Amino acid sequence: MNAPLIPPAGARLLRTVSIAGTGAYIPEKVLTNADLARLVQTTDEWIVSRTGMKERHMARPDEAASDMGAAAARQALAAAGLAPTEVGLIICASITPDMPFPSTACFVQRLLGATNAYGFDITAACSGFIYAAEVAKNAIATGSVDTALIIGAERLTGAVDWEDRTTCVLFGDGAGAAVLRAQGAPHGIRSSILGSDGRLAELLMLPGGGSRHPTSLETIQQRLHYMKMSGREVFKHAVTKMIEAAQTALQRAGLTIDDVDVIIPHQANLRIVEAIGQRLGAPKEKYFINIEKYGNISAASVPVALDEAVRAGRIKKGDTVLLIAFGGGFTWGSMVVEWDRD
Ligand code: ACO
Repeated sequence: MNAPLIPPAGARLLRTVSIAGTGAYIPEKVLTNADLARLVQTTDEWIVSRTGMKERHMARPDEAASDMGAAAARQALAAAGLAPTEVGLIICASITPDMPFPSTACFVQRLLGATNAYGFDITAACSGFIYAAEVAKNAIATGSVDTALIIGAERLTGAVDWEDRTTCVLFGDGAGAAVLRAQGAPHGIRSSILGSDGRLAELLMLPGGGSRHPTSLETIQQRLHYMKMSGREVFKHAVTKMIEAAQTALQRAGLTIDDVDVIIPHQANLRIVEAIGQRLGAPKEKYFINIEKYGNISAASVPVALDEAVRAGRIKKGDTVLLIAFGGGFTWGSMVVEWDRD
């Protein structure tokens, strides 16, 4: 008897999901540590020794998250050899969306002409790209769509308080994207883990402009429209949760850290990456680091680093890649991917 074309109700159709293409967009304008030292009381020495950051990029005034996201998405689609009309789902991860609604994903859809897709945004701060990858992977694995475009796009220079040296030196703008597809590869995305803990929300947030504190003269005077962060606390939790997430994702894939070829951590602070490296037991060479050029670009951080690692030849067919992120919420996530394209 032939297999039915339509699975019976309740049947699960699970397919392996691969990353078929990546892309990135970084705005031209560079802000160096010396530039920041002219704005707030800081030094190049402090920023480099505490964070590893030397530069970050700043979007033009007319450039929103969707413009940068669409530019990264075009590259990812070209790398995958696909037209925008072949995309079934667009997920955009951002804490600096174009506006509360419509979603940045819908603006990206319009810019690309991806007329056969549905789209929505995810808010998971710096873990947003891994959250988007997990949701898209499940939509493809279960047969809901064949091709998904996932994007991390941020314009953080508009969300930091340029009078607060504890945050303004850390963040930059940019976007990264990836195309996920059911390609019939043996592995693709092998495992993942997501987590969050809302009890710690106050340690990292942008309180103004939502329904808790709708924008008013008062919220602006109180500077509630800018990001607030308890850096030292965030640091501690980031190290612990990123290690736990990576270990769980590896365990779920039936792998150990020795099986991993390249690690793409969220680039929030070089010292966080070094602390993770020591505890996970992976040599420095396995980590792909670009924090010195871009600073922290939140949801764009992992996909931009992934794209750079692929284009630089650091990730090759057959490699096992470990993605790890942590951000406001708190949120965290890790994913193990077997790279199955040249
Ligand atoms: N220049 C000079 N001095 C500074 C600056 C600066 N830019 N910023 C802070 N300082 C001072 C502080 O005022 C403090 O001075 P004090 O001792 O006189 O009070 C001193 O430096 C030490 O401050 P700490 O906050 O303890 O510095 P720390 O070593 O913890 O570094 C940092 C701060 C870089 C923010 C670090 O804590 C960090 O990276 N935290 C994690 C950030 C992160 O991971 N975010 C994740 C996600 S972001 C997201 O989801 C959007």
